[in-house]
Amino acid sequence: MRIHILGSGAGGGFPQWNCNCRNCDGFRKGTIRARRRTQSSIAVSSDSLNWVLFNASPDILAQLHALPAMQPARAVRDTGIRGIVLIDSQIDHTTGLLMLRECTRPLRVYCTEAVYEDLTTGNPICDVLSHFCTVDWQPIRFNGAGCTFTVPGVERLCLAAHPLKSKAPPYSPHRNHPHVGDTIGVVIEDLTTGGRLFYAPGLGEMEPHVLPLMRNADCVLVDGTFWREDEMAAAGIADKRSRELGHLPQSGPGGIIEVLAPLSRPRKILIHINNTNPILDEDSPERAELTRAGIEVSHDGMEIAL
Ligand code: MLT
Ligand code: MN
Ligand code: ZN
Repeated sequence: MRIHILGSGAGGGFPQWNCNCRNCDGFRKGTIRARRRTQSSIAVSSDSLNWVLFNASPDILAQLHALPAMQPARAVRDTGIRGIVLIDSQIDHTTGLLMLRECTRPLRVYCTEAVYEDLTTGNPICDVLSHFCTVDWQPIRFNGAGCTFTVPGVERLCLAAHPLKSKAPPYSPHRNHPHVGDTIGVVIEDLTTGGRLFYAPGLGEMEPHVLPLMRNADCVLVDGTFWREDEMAAAGIADKRSRELGHLPQSGPGGIIEVLAPLSRPRKILIHINNTNPILDEDSPERAELTRAGIEVSHDGMEIAL
């Protein structure tokens, strides 16, 4: 399968429009070596013609322009997107759906009931789209185990969604009352090559079922939001801590570096990187520490073949 990183940044992207943290300011002034990043999304295909989109970011139009294979041009109106999987109902992962309203067919959207509820109440994107292309909701339901499914037209990719603990958005009734299905991670397996990806841009806690999913993958593409637990406070932005926001930091006890350390099989890559994260500075000691730990940092346009 071909995995294309459409957007490697967290909400707000990088640089963030109103931010003058060390990274955002340094990027604008050219004083740090870093790449511009759009908001969190990937596209996966087994034939480079039919694609599954994971998340629909507010930057989706620019992201699609940057991936010509997404426009196969078989008709006057066409797209390579066969289905859209939402990992949560956050703004950075869902508002791009509105940009797809010109679709000539209903948008085939796979998400949990918790996410669908948010998208029809607090963040009523599906209601708005009912006046345009409409949404063909494909429920992701768990009965004790992962939920396995395929997307029509992309049958060589087997998808298995698993509930993860992260954080529902502020407009969700689940913000402070977590529900199973607020956030998912997905194992994507190419039935032809056997290649397996574990994708989890929102990972706030290492529950017992998560490590085996990572261990059995050929590549893990996981939450790279914050380097440290108090990163927002240290940058003078907000006093919310990384775990409180639903994201395991990379450093410190129980952080992503420690979590990934014992895994020998998968390639390890971070995604959904917040603009405050020092790993965005390619010359930072934090970035060097990641490299020593064998962990890569994804960037917009990056391709992974499994
Ligand atoms: C998150 O990942 O925590 C959210 O997407 C933050 C946001 O609303 O931008
Ligand atoms: Mn996010
Ligand atoms: Zn910033």
